[in-house]
Amino acid sequence: MSKYQTIDGMSYALEQEKGRKKRSKWIIIGCVVGLLVLAAIGTAVGVVVSKNNSKSSSSSSSSSNSGKGSNSGNSTTGGKPGDPSNFTKDPALHQAFYGMAYTPEGALIEFGCTNTLENTIRDIQLISQLTKRIRLYGADCNQTAQVLEAIVQTDVDMEVFVGIYVVADDHDAYLRQRDLITGAIETYGTKHIAGVTVGNEFMLNVTDVNSGVGLEGAAILLADIEDTKQMLAGMNLDKHIPVGNSDAGSFFATSVLEAVEYGLSNVHAWFANTTAAGAAPWVFDFFQESNLTPAAALPNKPAMYIAETGWPTKSSDAANANNGGSDASEANLQVFLDTFVCQANDQGVHYFFFEMFDEEWKDIKFGGVEGWWGLFNKDRTLKNVKIPDCISP
Ligand SMILES: *[C@@H]1O[C@H](CO)[C@@H](O)[C@H](O)[C@H]1NC(C)=O
Ligand SMILES: *[C@@H]1O[C@H](CO)[C@@H](O)[C@H](O)[C@H]1NC(C)=O
Ligand SMILES: *[C@@H]1O[C@H](CO)[C@@H](O)[C@H](O)[C@H]1NC(C)=O
Ligand SMILES: *[C@@H]1O[C@H](CO)[C@@H](O)[C@H](O)[C@H]1NC(C)=O
Ligand SMILES: *[C@@H]1O[C@H](CO)[C@@H](O)[C@H](O)[C@H]1NC(C)=O
Repeated sequence: MSKYQTIDGMSYALEQEKGRKKRSKWIIIGCVVGLLVLAAIGTAVGVVVSKNNSKSSSSSSSSSNSGKGSNSGNSTTGGKPGDPSNFTKDPALHQAFYGMAYTPEGALIEFGCTNTLENTIRDIQLISQLTKRIRLYGADCNQTAQVLEAIVQTDVDMEVFVGIYVVADDHDAYLRQRDLITGAIETYGTKHIAGVTVGNEFMLNVTDVNSGVGLEGAAILLADIEDTKQMLAGMNLDKHIPVGNSDAGSFFATSVLEAVEYGLSNVHAWFANTTAAGAAPWVFDFFQESNLTPAAALPNKPAMYIAETGWPTKSSDAANANNGGSDASEANLQVFLDTFVCQANDQGVHYFFFEMFDEEWKDIKFGGVEGWWGLFNKDRTLKNVKIPDCISP
């Protein structure tokens, strides 16, 4: 949900400019409050609008009813066109990435849960050629089970940081997703589960995560984190599954980090208005200063990962086509790929590249660059970029 990272960049800039431009603080606060609404809607997600058949987004509304007939004639559960583990590898792809941010297409309650196992299998076949790790944002629409089933059917080496998004005034959303994850672990075991992330960008509506409403928000997160830990402990699993939290880079409450084993931090140079060439150095510096160093100083020393970092390839409006430093473009995504990926691998920085596919629902809802962060287009073709020439550990 890159939109919310706007805050990230803004607050970073704010820190830099502190005292110089007090007025900008109020702009930022205004944005934070405004984005609360988006956070409630968008975060509530984990996901995407459907879109299956439509290459042209033309024929507006009425369903292309994606469940059926997209890839193979055999849709929905059960249909197994051939052996999903026998798929053609693309020579342009190799496992350069530590991890990848992934949202199954259509796994959004608001849009009717149009995600299908077939499409998820197709995606896992592609993603597995780039990385051994993915992170999900939520658990609705049975996406956790579908991803795990797809990993089993494709027989790929892949671990998943599954996710539960937390919404302040909707505890049922937490419970529903927790139970879906419980069910998925009961069915598929722990083999492919790397962690359970509770909360995504939950604290983005607060200006100081360690006081006032920040503490109220942290209390909600802490209760859900504790509940997830108890759920896992109660399952008597054969391996320990860590529980973590995800937020924009400047929005981790200390009490939350002290309660988790890992933090997933969004670090977006685009929203900090860097140039494309300056993006990777900015990301490394920001992550070190704002996340790695503070986390290492805590008694529990939570592992920190970059949850999202990337570069958009276009904007749906002219106003957002340039961030003040560089354009949103495939050429600049290539610059970021070439200066971040292998360097992060070498430095032992753990990251989830943002993101695998363009997400049409974000473009529809938010416009600007929101829908255009994919390495792949929404039709699952690789953009005009070259995957960096290294293999991630
Ligand atoms: C980046 O540029 C945009 C557009 O000029 C501006 O609104 C925003 O405050 C800037 N952000 C930062 C972090 O400088
Ligand atoms: C769908 O599955 C059925 C039974 O598994 C098979 O007979 C049929 O050929 C499949 N259709 C397509 C289009 O793959
Ligand atoms: C894999 O698929 C190809 C093409 O569909 C087929 O020729 C080949 O026999 C399959 N291999 C196995 C082991 O099933
Ligand atoms: C969830 O997905 C799994 C894997 O595809 C499937 O076996 C199961 O029936 C699905 N559950 C529901 C309620 O759709
Ligand atoms: C921010 O969210 C927290 C919990 O998510 C909530 O308690 C608080 O009222 C929100 N603050 C504002 C200013 O909306």
